[in-house]
Amino acid sequence: MSLNKSVFSKKKIILGITASIAAYKAAYICSKLTGMGAGVIPVMTPNALNFIAPLTLSSISGNKTVVDQFENQKKIYHISLSHSADVFLIAPASADVISKLSYGVGDNFLTTSAISATCPVLVAPAMNESMYLDPVIQQNINHLKESGKYFFVGPASGKLACGEEGPGRMEDEDIIIERLGELLKYKSDLKGKNILITAGGTKEFIDPVRFISNRSSGKMGYALAEEARSRGAKEVILVSAAEKSLKPYGIKIVYAGDTAGMKRALLEYLKDSDIVMMAAAVSDIVPVKKYNFKLKKKDDILSKIKFKENENILELLAEKKKKDQYLVGFAAETDYSIEAVKDKLKGRNIDMIVGNDISTKSIGMGSDYNEVDLVRQDGSVKKLARDKKRIIARGIWDEIVKNLDAVKNQ
Ligand SMILES: Cc1cc2nc3c(=O)[nH]c(=O)nc-3n(C[C@H](O)[C@H](O)[C@H](O)COP(=O)(O)O)c2cc1C
Repeated sequence: MSLNKSVFSKKKIILGITASIAAYKAAYICSKLTGMGAGVIPVMTPNALNFIAPLTLSSISGNKTVVDQFENQKKIYHISLSHSADVFLIAPASADVISKLSYGVGDNFLTTSAISATCPVLVAPAMNESMYLDPVIQQNINHLKESGKYFFVGPASGKLACGEEGPGRMEDEDIIIERLGELLKYKSDLKGKNILITAGGTKEFIDPVRFISNRSSGKMGYALAEEARSRGAKEVILVSAAEKSLKPYGIKIVYAGDTAGMKRALLEYLKDSDIVMMAAAVSDIVPVKKYNFKLKKKDDILSKIKFKENENILELLAEKKKKDQYLVGFAAETDYSIEAVKDKLKGRNIDMIVGNDISTKSIGMGSDYNEVDLVRQDGSVKKLARDKKRIIARGIWDEIVKNLDAVKNQ
């Protein structure tokens, strides 16, 4: 096992411990992390007190173990603590705490802190096989994974404390620590980078009540923005036409409903951006004339509405793009082919196009799911299999980070 110890140095790690027989193993994890220079703050559920003494963890870490949600701690401690952490580890994680987090139940300090955490949360389940394989527990685990904030390590298969054998054993402590190290690295993948992303379908108004638009929901752009924030980007600006979407935490939203607004915002922020992703579905056609009064049916309405081809904002950005900026375009087609995506890249100053087939409603526009091809300027293609958009967003960023690293090491 290759463990880069320096990645833990001076990092603030919350170590959450729940009521499982494996709770005693948390002492080893705490000791190892502390030994590598991390500041470990142990947090226990009240039920976990039946399995291990808080004094053990306080003594090893040198920090007071937090249990009581309402103890007069520093000001609103569950928020200030979780917001200051680099990573949050829950090891062991009970079926109970996993399920509570899946439903957003914050009934003790550990669960409340995990809900408010803005850093990645690594969960190491530990439970009897029958509990782990229970369909509701599986559903709750998947729910947390798909959120993008929660990562899982294990469980391992083997002899369980109850004498049975099967999956449910908490993963080996050293493997948990190794995974934690990977997450700390992931968390600084985009450190110092300014990210500019567009999302949603533009609405091109004909008159004050009518417009032409498309089915784009903005979910892909929002997922990309959230993933960029999780990976430590300096600033994430989301130029959004999806005005009904919830504003994600830690992301600057600039609402831009139509092409003109989107173009204005992009030109304003382009200069200071390191990576630009055009995930919005900008209308291909716009009305020739925009009326400032509602057209009446009786006034020969059809003769008054004419459309023209819209300007290509991606092309505009490609022309303005500097050498050290990374530009990503998106292509969604019903007669989709990778060859057509490759053609779109040819001779254009675009680094990558994310292509997807929108001939079915189960992926792409409007759906929570996507399945994409990442086509690069050199013609290489990486396929990302169907998954929740947040997980697809992670795959897209993985590829970009890899490309940026390769350029840096040239
Ligand atoms: C001896 C014993 C061992 C237990 N081990 C586990 C376990 O490994 N995993 C688990 O999910 N629950 C286990 N439980 C059940 C939990 O302790 C119980 O669900 C508890 O409410 C969880 O509390 P918490 O999630 O707030 O820590 C165990 C219970 C007992 C009595």
